[in-house]
Amino acid sequence: MISNKRILLIISGGIAAYKSLDLIRRLKERGAAVRVIMTKAAQQFVTPLSAGAIAGERAYTDLFDAVTEFDIGHIRLARDTDLVVIAPATADLIAKMAGGHADDLASTVLLATDKPILLAPAMNPHMWRHRATQRNLAQLRADGVSAVGPNEGEMAEAGEAGPGRMAEPLEIVAAIEGLLAGRTAARGALAGLRILVTSGPTHEAIDPVRYLANRSSGKQGHAIARAAAEAGATVTLVSGPVRLPDPPGMSVVHVESARAMLAAVEARLPADVAVFAAAVADWRVAEAGAQKTKKTAAGLPVLTLVENPDILATIAKRKQGRPRLVVGFAAETERVLEHAREKLARKGCDWIVANDVSKESGVMGGDRNTVHLVTARGIEAWPSQSKEEVAHALVARIAEALKAPAPAK
Ligand code: CTP
Repeated sequence: MISNKRILLIISGGIAAYKSLDLIRRLKERGAAVRVIMTKAAQQFVTPLSAGAIAGERAYTDLFDAVTEFDIGHIRLARDTDLVVIAPATADLIAKMAGGHADDLASTVLLATDKPILLAPAMNPHMWRHRATQRNLAQLRADGVSAVGPNEGEMAEAGEAGPGRMAEPLEIVAAIEGLLAGRTAARGALAGLRILVTSGPTHEAIDPVRYLANRSSGKQGHAIARAAAEAGATVTLVSGPVRLPDPPGMSVVHVESARAMLAAVEARLPADVAVFAAAVADWRVAEAGAQKTKKTAAGLPVLTLVENPDILATIAKRKQGRPRLVVGFAAETERVLEHAREKLARKGCDWIVANDVSKESGVMGGDRNTVHLVTARGIEAWPSQSKEEVAHALVARIAEALKAPAPAK
């Protein structure tokens, strides 16, 4: 699966760097071409000579190396590859990536590359758990970067144990294979198709400063939009208020309320496929105050709610200009499949991606998702995977369904 693939391995400075030499060997055994970049700190642990000898090509170390820049510049290093792997990925390199720094060869190549990136983090458990590291990782995941590990176990430092050990070379190889297989299958699979995706929560104004909202982060919807764009679709993402950057390579429309989301969706149709991943507020305040509601002696304010338009049902039940495939989500906290099946029928959509969003599931705002795909044909249970993986799997299913003249319902 990775034979003849080009892998750019970035080794940053951690004790696990010695395992990276074995990783190079494992990749070469499988027929991959491996090119190595080492940070300055990495060279304290293994030498460019040994990495280069195993890779069969000199290891690159300097951004301003006159010989390298004439021979193969950093932009070519970033582009002439199928995948970039960072193993070990230190807390420092992860932070630099998340911040978009480019002050050495490794970070510059990471900023310049348009290829998939896989991280194999390795660090002390305290550094791993630190909020800054977790925040940086969350940012990188939102940017579409994948990760393998770290594993739990003993650290190199005496008496230290916990999460932070780099994944074993063969685990990293398996992650590379998975990533390359997914991307190869998906690349171009949706070429020529228009996909509209809704994502995030909606905010329903109470007055100019207050609103009703929900806990949706938009991670799943944004990941679907990104996966569809990677598969070659022309993507429009209609997003409620989220704390995520706009994914590249698509048109993004920002809205606040359910009514604005419906208007944006209708304005952006027609599309071949519509995926409604947004957690749209079911109700809004009947009359939002024009001014900030003040405390008064007269008593507590009473909010009268009215129902919002159902965007999914409105589009799915369209007589004209209905997308060929309409996919809804069902966020449930109990009796997930029963409710999902009922929603499929009630809303008139083709598929429902059902997920358990009860507090215990950790789905809302989290990075993983366990979903069931509900279609008229039946129910598929998908394994627990990252929201990125769910997105890629869904895109693969969409591509498959659209190959048939009518969607496989
Ligand atoms: N949805 C929508 N417009 C709404 C409400 C929901 O487009 N006003 C869409 C969501 O984007 C999702 C699907 O409908 O794809 C199901 O959302 P969910 O909140 O699970 O269902 P509800 O219709 O709100 O049903 P209930 O609140 O009874 O669970």
